[in-house]
Amino acid sequence: MIKKIVVIPGDGIGPEITEQAVKICRAAAEGSEIDLAFETKYAGGAAIDRYGEPLPEDTLEVCRGADAILLGAVGGPAWDHVAPALRPEKAILGLRKALGLYANLRPVRVFPALVSHAPLKAEVVTGVDMMLVRELNGGIYYGSRSESEIVNGVEEAWDTELYNTAEVTRIVRLAAQIAAKRQSSVVSVDKANVLASSRLWRRTAETVVREFPNIKLNHLYVDNCAMQIVLAPTQFDVIVTNNLFGDILSDEAAVITGSIGMLPSASIGDGPGLYEPIHGSAPDIAGQGIANPLGTILSAAMMFRYSLGAEEIAVKIEQAVEKVLAEGYRTADLFKQGSSKVTTDEMGQQVLNHL
Ligand code: IPM
Ligand code: MN
Repeated sequence: MIKKIVVIPGDGIGPEITEQAVKICRAAAEGSEIDLAFETKYAGGAAIDRYGEPLPEDTLEVCRGADAILLGAVGGPAWDHVAPALRPEKAILGLRKALGLYANLRPVRVFPALVSHAPLKAEVVTGVDMMLVRELNGGIYYGSRSESEIVNGVEEAWDTELYNTAEVTRIVRLAAQIAAKRQSSVVSVDKANVLASSRLWRRTAETVVREFPNIKLNHLYVDNCAMQIVLAPTQFDVIVTNNLFGDILSDEAAVITGSIGMLPSASIGDGPGLYEPIHGSAPDIAGQGIANPLGTILSAAMMFRYSLGAEEIAVKIEQAVEKVLAEGYRTADLFKQGSSKVTTDEMGQQVLNHL
C-alpha cells in the first residue's frame, strides 16, 4: 500500500527536524504493509524567497493529492517586513483552509522523565494527559476584517468572530468521539457570558453531546479555563474550543509540561491530514544541529495514527521516544547536568535504535 507524504520543511529549524522525522518514518514503516513515498515541497518563507508567495499553487496541488503532510515550521524575522497577505504564516492558514483541516489536535502529556523541567510543581503536573481539540477553519481567524479605516477622524481596525452550528457541531462531535476512547470527559471552552458566538457554541455543544450518552460535558469560560490549566491540569481529559481560544490555551497547556519542543499536533479534516510540532521555526538556533526533533517525530507518530491507519506504528514510535528520554538523552533545550547531551541527528539516531 503506497502512502504519499508531502514533506514541507519550511523555515528555521524546519529542515533539520523534518529530516529526522522522515528517517524515523521510513524505519518505523519498514516491514509493514505501508510503503511511504515522500515528496518535498516549499511553503512559508522558503517559498516567498523562491516564488514570491508563501503557498505556491503547486505545493497546494501536491498536498491535495497526498495522504498526509509533514511540516516543520514556517516564519522568521527575515520575513517580518512583508505585506500581511504574503506573510509566511499565510502558508499554514491557507493550507488549513484549502484542505478543510477543521480540527487541530494537540495532545499534552507530561513525560515522566521530564517532570523536573516543568515550571509547575511536580505534584501538579504529574499525570497530566489531555487532548486539546481546537476548531481550525473558522472563527476570528477567517472572519471578515478591516486593516484600517478612518471613522470620525479616528483610525479603526476590526475582525469578526463568527461560527455557525455546522462548524460547531463537527468539532464538538469529533471531540466527543476522541473522548469516548479516553476518559469520556469533554470540557467545552467559551466566553458565553459575553459573546453571542460563544452562546451559540455552548447551545450547539449541548445538542451534539446528546448523541453520546456516555460522555460527560462541562463548560468553562476561557478565563477560568486558563486558570484551571495552571491550577489543576490533571482534571482535563478532552478540551474543545474555538480557533482563537484554542491557539492561546494550547500554548499554555503545552508549556506546563516543561517541554514545548516535544509536543506534536495533527490537523485533520475531510482530506489529507497535516502534522507539525507546535513549537515554531526557532531561527535563533537554526542550522546548528541542536534543535529537538522529538516534537516532529511525535507528529509523525500521529500521522501514522490518524492518516495512515497504522496505530501500531504510532505506538512504536511513541514508545521509542519515551525510552530514549528515560535513558537520559537530551537535546540542548532539555539538557541538565547528569543527562547525555545529543545533537538533532544523534537524537534521531537514538529513536531509530529504539524502534
Ligand atoms: C499555531 C500558530 C499559528 C496559529 C500561526 C503561525 C498562524 O500559532 O499553529 O498555533 O495562530 O494558528
Ligand atoms: Mn499558536
